[in-house]
Amino acid sequence: MNTKKNIIIDCDPGIDDSLALLLALQSEELNVIGITIVSGNAPASIGAQNALKVLELVDRLDIPVYIGAEEPLEVPFVSAQDTHGEDGLGDSQIPFVTSSQAKANAVSFIKDTLKQNPETTVLALGPLTNIALALKEDPDCFAKVSRFIVMGGSYLSHGNCSPVAEFNFWCDPDAAKFVFSQNLPIPIEMVGLDVTRKIVLTPTVLEYMKHTQNKNIYRFIQQITQFYFDFHWAHEKVLGCVINDPLTIAYLLDSTIAQGFDSHVEIATSGISRGQSIVDDHDFWQLPNNCHILTNVDQTAFWHLFLTRVLKAEENELSQVLPQLLEVRA
Ligand code: BDR
Ligand code: CA
Repeated sequence: MNTKKNIIIDCDPGIDDSLALLLALQSEELNVIGITIVSGNAPASIGAQNALKVLELVDRLDIPVYIGAEEPLEVPFVSAQDTHGEDGLGDSQIPFVTSSQAKANAVSFIKDTLKQNPETTVLALGPLTNIALALKEDPDCFAKVSRFIVMGGSYLSHGNCSPVAEFNFWCDPDAAKFVFSQNLPIPIEMVGLDVTRKIVLTPTVLEYMKHTQNKNIYRFIQQITQFYFDFHWAHEKVLGCVINDPLTIAYLLDSTIAQGFDSHVEIATSGISRGQSIVDDHDFWQLPNNCHILTNVDQTAFWHLFLTRVLKAEENELSQVLPQLLEVRA
């Protein structure tokens, strides 16, 4: 019997999306049925190439990649290539994959797969355009979804592309608003900046990766994150980089890694609050809860999981070294 969890990863690779893909692909409990690509960090065609690069790295080109929406629902597309590089992978010059190609019609793939595979989990790591389009075309397509985990938004933490907005919701605010307004049968699990900001790939963690068994993976991570490190230093005087997306996978694998609360959430679409996730934590609106908002994360547990899975860090050694890795963020 196949006891693996079926998952679809909708993403915009993207440096941190690629790290999330690596974590999912190196986790035996998960069966990645397909990877769907949305325009976000980079245009979708570039994101699809990056997903293929990750799949090639871990020898999983058997997993299909589907290209989805090129543009947000209503607003003009603005990429985050200033943060992720022109190639979406930190201008790392990693060669194109020629032995496999992405397919078209990500939205159809999402709808059809969710119908045919009840209990699939959907992880959305980019703007919610593909998900919104799937729900517009077939409002029941999430009827049998197991879990829906979204990297996006923030509750009390400030934004990362405006004072109040997180990039994925800011990039396509209308898609985010639509998805949150759908009264889905399961709560949206919002892995927002409140928790992802605490997951920092520091130079110390990267240095440790160099000493693990998975040298190819270390080199890939080192190549794609240098640009991201430089961006964080230039803009925030942070040594290292925040890696948002892998926390969604870690949380799926181990729900004790993060905790939060349920509330009703709406997304603002325009003006100075464009993309803001407004959490009605005092129940002013008296509307049903549509979201589980994560507020606390166990960084040690995250890094333990990531380093053992992705870099094949050895358990005993890692237990000794983890306090050193995290001491600057304590
Ligand atoms: C989110 O936006 C992107 O830049 C990252 O890939 C992540 O999904 C963080 O705001
Ligand atoms: Ca992303």
